[in-house]
Amino acid sequence: MLGEVLNVNLASYIIGKELKIVSDIPAQNAIRFELNESRFTGKPEAYELRVDNNGVVVEAGTDTGLFYGLQTLLQLITPQGIPYVSIQDEPRFNYRGLHLDVSRNFFPKEFVLKLIDLMSFYKLNTFHWHLTDGAGWRIQLDKYPKLTRDAAFRAEADWKTWWDGDRKFVPEGTEGAYGGYYTKDDIREVVAYAATKHIRVIPEIEMPGHSEEVFVAYPELCCTGKPYTSSDFCVGNEETFTFVENVLTEVMELFPSEYIHVGGDEAGKQAWKTCPKCKKRMQEEGLKNVDELQSYMMRRVEKFLTENGRKLIGWDEILEGGLPAEATVMSWRGESGGIQAAQSGHDVIMTPGGYLYFDFYQADPKTQPAAIGGYTPIKRVYSYEPVPDTLTADEKKHIIGIQANLWTEYIPNVKQVEYMLFPRVLALSEIAWSPQESRNWNDFKRRLNRHVALLQAMDVNTFPLSYEIETTMQVDTVRKVIEVTLDAERYPAEIRYTVDGTVPSSGSSLYERPIVVTDSARIVAAIFQDGQLMGTPTEKKVDYHRGIGKKIHYNSKLYSGYMAGGMNALLDSYRGGFTYLDGRWQGYLNDLDAVVDMGEVTDVRQVSVRFMQLTGPGVYQPGQVELLTSENGTDFVSRQVIPTEISPETSELAFQEYMFNGDWKARYVRIKATEVNKGFIFTDEIVIW
Ligand code: ACM
Repeated sequence: MLGEVLNVNLASYIIGKELKIVSDIPAQNAIRFELNESRFTGKPEAYELRVDNNGVVVEAGTDTGLFYGLQTLLQLITPQGIPYVSIQDEPRFNYRGLHLDVSRNFFPKEFVLKLIDLMSFYKLNTFHWHLTDGAGWRIQLDKYPKLTRDAAFRAEADWKTWWDGDRKFVPEGTEGAYGGYYTKDDIREVVAYAATKHIRVIPEIEMPGHSEEVFVAYPELCCTGKPYTSSDFCVGNEETFTFVENVLTEVMELFPSEYIHVGGDEAGKQAWKTCPKCKKRMQEEGLKNVDELQSYMMRRVEKFLTENGRKLIGWDEILEGGLPAEATVMSWRGESGGIQAAQSGHDVIMTPGGYLYFDFYQADPKTQPAAIGGYTPIKRVYSYEPVPDTLTADEKKHIIGIQANLWTEYIPNVKQVEYMLFPRVLALSEIAWSPQESRNWNDFKRRLNRHVALLQAMDVNTFPLSYEIETTMQVDTVRKVIEVTLDAERYPAEIRYTVDGTVPSSGSSLYERPIVVTDSARIVAAIFQDGQLMGTPTEKKVDYHRGIGKKIHYNSKLYSGYMAGGMNALLDSYRGGFTYLDGRWQGYLNDLDAVVDMGEVTDVRQVSVRFMQLTGPGVYQPGQVELLTSENGTDFVSRQVIPTEISPETSELAFQEYMFNGDWKARYVRIKATEVNKGFIFTDEIVIW
């Protein structure tokens, strides 16, 4: 039992000594593991750890508890020794997951084993293995050999080149082809190894969407019957169910996990509307629409899994058209799917994109390798609270845990997997394990910095943490000031700043407390080490401007917005950051035409407004921005039109500030952003002086 529990390699690595497992307990220099089932009844993952001058004792009711006690012990060891502690500990959630997409890019078994080690060190207990998707089928099956023979390799190693190109596969064995799959023996090895680390492995077999690769091998399973034409299974075709059940039968033989993930996300459903078989199925089953047709499939698959003693998990789209009776829902499009599922008595795993998608950028995109978008620095991950307040006490019990997801479109190799996962996994781990009350960013930051060094020593290509400064504003409309707080994920951090837009030097003001801005400041801040400025300084414009709190009117005919920060967010002084998901950016699907009422005719000397561009998710600059003013709200005078300088071809994140200077008498200040190319426009603040 002990041999199984003790992670000898990792322990001796960290302690730097040979570890021996003995049965007779020596008087000194020993770590005692004691099983005490009655003390820990009903708490299989709980443990107690005591370190004092008598030595080290780990006590738990199960091997798993002992294992977690050991992980804590390993994390406590420093070159100076082990601090005396007395810890009683158990996890907040019993589902603590990490997901890895191996379809878009393929990662060898050896890496998966390394990841299992790292997950267990941080007490994660569920590995969600996304084994199939449109970019490649990655699990060998006996009944359907063509899946791995014809749909697991491509000519282009780079996913984006392949995706922007013909998206074709080449047969296994093609010279120079990129790809791969796990053999059944590989899978058995991973599953067995994970079990020794108290980790369950949940396989995901995608359906009905994200399945282009299946139809390369078995085109008869999609509505057109032809390869490279569809991403969705034909739900009208009985052969689809024969295939799915045969696949799941082999999958269940390999994976003892009670949960089997069957995807369910982002099905196109279009072909179903005209496919004779799908239409017949809908008619026969009394299904009103294609959402119900997907639900029909999920219910049938759930029935099959249940008959085999398993449980179905799906992404939150499985709510559409009706949930299967016992399904567990993974809430990824925010939390609303999770909330809805919990309210209807279903278990939920929270994995919202804006917090737990680790394929998002973790620092200023300009400084990072290409990623899918977003901006989720570790502080944001750490701030996540998985149990929504809107749920009742009973509904809250259905939030069984959390998971971070790593989609790998932009992650070509294992080094980059490590870079995107670590150290954000540490924040995931702490949210999953520790009670919310005990979470403390400043304390976490201190431990985080120590662990980055530890991860590097363990040969993990961790993101080293950034030198960026986080600026947070607090607007006080009574005192008419803005307090600006500076923070960094590096610890300790000597932060120096200026308020006039100049680059700080080692003699600039040392940041010790929030900076109070009464009018306008251009704060530039950076971390200094040994007198040297580290990284790129962070700049933030802060204006307690004259538009704050004033009334805004959207000319309704033109308004169609994503009002993330509420109707007044363009006049609250809060600027947005690197992602339009941060609640500060307001999105509009058409032109923006907004009128600010200053309350009385007044002198206006400067108006500025900034727009974001990020073409991947469809966010563009307007073609131009016009300022108009009026004294009576009816007769507007055009003051200036500023054209857009950023080309719609620019795919990297880009911002343009449209700045109008003049000397006008006006009560109404009107901004018109027009000639929108396509997609959304996003702006964060109309600044009026
Ligand atoms: C997902 O990110 N499509 C689940």
